[in-house]
This record gives sequence, C-alpha cells and structure tokens, in this order.
Amino acid sequence: MKNAPFVRFLSITLTLSISLPAAYAHDPVYARKGIVVAQEPVAADVGVAVLKSGGNAVDAGVAVGFALAVTHPFAGNIGGGGFMLIRLADGRTTFIDFREKAPHQATHDMYLDPSGNVTHDSLIGWRAVGVPGTVRGLELALKKYGTKSWSELLAPAIHLASSGFPISYSQMRSFHNTADLLSQFPDSKRIFLKDGAFYDWNETLQQPELARTLERMARNGAKEFYEGETARILASQMEKNAGLITLEDLREYQAVERKPLEGDYKGYRIITSPPPSSGGVGILQMLAMLDGTSYEKSKAGSATAYHYLAEVMRRFYADRNEYLGDPDFVKDPITALLEPGYIKARRDSIDPVLATPSEQINPGLPAAVAEGSDTTHYSIADEQGNVVAVTYTLNAGYGSGVTVPGAGFLLNDEMDDFAAKPGAPNLFGLVQGEANSIAPGRRPLSSMVPTIVLKDGKPFLVLGAPGGSRIITAVMQVMLNVIDFGMNIQDAIDSPRVHHQWKPDRLDIERGISPDTIALLKKAGYNIEEAKPAVIARVEAILISDGWLQGGHDDRGSGKAAGY
Ligand code: GLY
Repeated sequence: MKNAPFVRFLSITLTLSISLPAAYAHDPVYARKGIVVAQEPVAADVGVAVLKSGGNAVDAGVAVGFALAVTHPFAGNIGGGGFMLIRLADGRTTFIDFREKAPHQATHDMYLDPSGNVTHDSLIGWRAVGVPGTVRGLELALKKYGTKSWSELLAPAIHLASSGFPISYSQMRSFHNTADLLSQFPDSKRIFLKDGAFYDWNETLQQPELARTLERMARNGAKEFYEGETARILASQMEKNAGLITLEDLREYQAVERKPLEGDYKGYRIITSPPPSSGGVGILQMLAMLDGTSYEKSKAGSATAYHYLAEVMRRFYADRNEYLGDPDFVKDPITALLEPGYIKARRDSIDPVLATPSEQINPGLPAAVAEGSDTTHYSIADEQGNVVAVTYTLNAGYGSGVTVPGAGFLLNDEMDDFAAKPGAPNLFGLVQGEANSIAPGRRPLSSMVPTIVLKDGKPFLVLGAPGGSRIITAVMQVMLNVIDFGMNIQDAIDSPRVHHQWKPDRLDIERGISPDTIALLKKAGYNIEEAKPAVIARVEAILISDGWLQGGHDDRGSGKAAGY
C-alpha cells in the first residue's frame, strides 16, 4: 500500500541529487566571521546578510527558516515543524522543539481501512497534516535568544515571495517530478506547476498569497498563524476538505524548550537532539558501541569500518523502533539505552567479521525497563561564537501536497512519522511500535538530529541533515570521518556513506564504494543494495578550527556554504 508514495519520495530526491564528487578532493568554504550552510543558495545569502547586519546566529536562523519557506518549497516551510539546537557563546545550550502534533480528532487507527490495512491518507491530502509548529518555534527562538525584530527577519522572505526568485535547474526538475502529487490540489498545481504549463529554468516564481500571509505574520506576530486570519483560513479549509485540524488545535499549539542530550566520544563533547527526536539517542548509542572496537584502525572506506558501522546502526534501530516516542506521552528509556553495561553487551554481540542477521537482533532492554525525507537542514555560526543547527520539514517532499487556498503555504504530512499500524513500515520503511502510535496531541518520533560537537569546550562541528531515517546514520558518519579519520569537513561530507536500519535487513550503499569493498561486505553476509534514493541524506555542516569557520555543503543537493 505504501509503495506508491515511497516511489514519489524516491523520484523527488533523485532529481535533487547530482553525481557524487570524487572523495578527498574538495576544500570547504572558509570564512572568518560568520557562515551559513543551507540547502538553497538564496536562503543561505539571506542568513549571511542578517549576520553582516549585526544579527546573531539565532536571528539568521529565523530569517533563513522563513526564506526557505519561500525558496525551497520541497521542505522549507511554515506549514511543518522541526528542531533548532542552539549553543550560545556563553556556554548555554537549548533545544527548541517545534515538531508538529497530532490534532485532537486524531485516533490510533485513523489510517487503517476496514480490513486493517494502512491507507495513503497519512501521506497525501488534508488528513495527513499534523498541527504545524515552525512559526511558534521560530518565534520562541527569536524571543529568547535573538536580537533583531520579528518583522525585520520576515522581510527577506516577504520580498522573495512577492517579487519572486529565479527557478534553479533542480527546482524546475523537482516540480516536474512531483507533478502527480501537486496536480491533485488546485492551489499547488496553480502556484508550483503554473497550472500544468510548468516553470522553465530561470523563470521567476512569485507567490503573492504566501507574501500576504507572511506580511500578516510580520504585522501580528506568530499569533497570526495560530489565532489570526491565517488560522481561520486554515481551519475553515480543513473543515471543507475533511481535514482534522481545528482553530482549537492551532490556538493550543506551543513550541517547547528541551534539554539537549549530551555525551562524550574520544574527548569530544556531543550536544544533540532529545526525544521526540530519536536521533540524539542514536548518535550517542552508536558512538558508544563503536568506542572500544578500534574499528577506525581499519581506515575509512574499508570493509571492516563499514561492517562495524552497519552493526551499530542495526542494533540502534532495533531499539529506536521499539522504545522511543514523544517524551510528553511515553517514558523514553534513554538512561537504560545509554547505560555502559547495556552498550557493552550490544557491542560484544558484534561479530568482528560477519554480519549479524537482523532476525537475531531484538530490541535489547529487559521488559521492565522498556515499559516505562523530506526535510532540510541549515547550520550557522556567528562572529560572537554562537552556533545554531536547524532541521525542519514537511516530511515527504512538498509534504501532503496541499497548499492552503488563500494562504499560499504547503502543509506537512508528518502524521506518517507515527506508526500508523505498529509493526507495519512507514514512508521510510521504519517498522515502529506502540511507543510511537497515534494519539491526540502527541508528537511523532523523528529522525532529525541537529547536533553540535565541542572540542576543548568550544564549538567544533555544527551539523545535521534531511533524509528521513537515514539522517542519523549520515550525521554520525560525517562526525566519524572528521574525528576518527581526520578528514576536512568537505571530504567528510563527500565520502560515500552506508545505511542500515535493522529492518529491512539490507545495507544501503552510495556510489563510490569500491567493488572490492562491496565484495568483502557481501562475503561477510550483507545483503547490499545501491541506495534508493541514491543519496544517503545530505549533510550541511560547519567545522570551526584555528580561527576559521569551514563550511561544508553537501553536493548531493543544490545549496551552498556562504560566509564572510
Ligand atoms: N519527517 C522525517 C523525520 O522527522 O524523521
């Protein structure tokens, strides 16, 4: 049942990817004062302009978030949600959770047909939409940690929406490849497909309804989106189209601050995302399992290194899918999952040579303890030493496909990140349990994992990625390429990656891994497939060292690193 939308996701992402650059060949972008790495160049420039005008990294993060909602409709949004991880120059850290929530009318089995099969409703159309969190999240970040005014930071997005911007090659292709989805909804078809005539490369895309929505938000604050005219438009269109979100859902939505997860790896301090992200637990658990294996002695790109990566990934995903969920609803057993004895037992279960079949790996906690994309990422560092990592999303590319008539913004299909039917795979093939089942007001478990790494107490890496379930493994591999294999940030990003998520029992690989290495991995027992989509996430990262800000943009996508 879920194959058709997954093919949609694959085709969109494939068109955005370009061939991988040769590994070990590229310098990062160097800057002295401030840097922004984002998946869309115009929005990256908006961030740099904010930094140059005296704004801090949080200000730039807010402006880039709104700009991407205009210039990167694939994933940038005001109709979705995400996470912002902040580390201020004075050492304070915070995690702003603006993940969407299930509306009040949501029910456990809302996406099952009378025979108990999962329908497409969690992916396409009005019923797929979670209560959006982006606008409240950016407001909270700015109010507590920014310096500029809300309206000033919305101004570039308003300008881009009303005056328009030239359509890039990848954006043009992306619209073509998503025509089946966007054509189903009249406003999406009109705005993004020129009513079926399609935009050409370099043609200007103007979005006047979105400009007016952003202007109202600039005048009235985030309240406009949740209680003002925008909220009324959204709620009445929901009612008209059998969607679930009401004015009450919108009025009640709040972004929340959470304490980031922290851990250590070989002298580096890792600051990362707590639930409802599963990513931070994953990064810390996988690093801890690797620590002590000496896997790095086999060198980057070796079959042994990939073997160990695959085995820690397999073990983490078995736990992730069983235990983790919205911390406001379930008791995430984070301490137990990171407990040294548990980690050691998981590490010891790794055969140094052979793959462990996934059927032999189960979620590993004792029962008593256990009771208890597409997406976009940008990283920013400013002159004062503040760093910000933001991953936010509509879930699948262009989300549910719905553009709100009269308001001009796309809506997410984040409800598919829940386990619509515990035990059945979602868009990303994740087979998840009751901890992530649907309930009113609950946030779906996410793989988004904005992360900051400190060296000697100072920001060293700022990174994150889009890419659904592959985000966590991609972010970890880039970190390891820097920390364990000494690569510069661009090479660390460019190097080919692998991904394993326990189920299906398959090692996905990117192009660029040598045939000899693949043969050795097959001999070790891996079921190997070229990754589909061909790219394993797209990591946007900053490395800070020796007084230089080094921006690594992922050439698997079409954004840029921009600094000064
Ligand atoms: N929507 C993808 C994720 O949050 O993991």
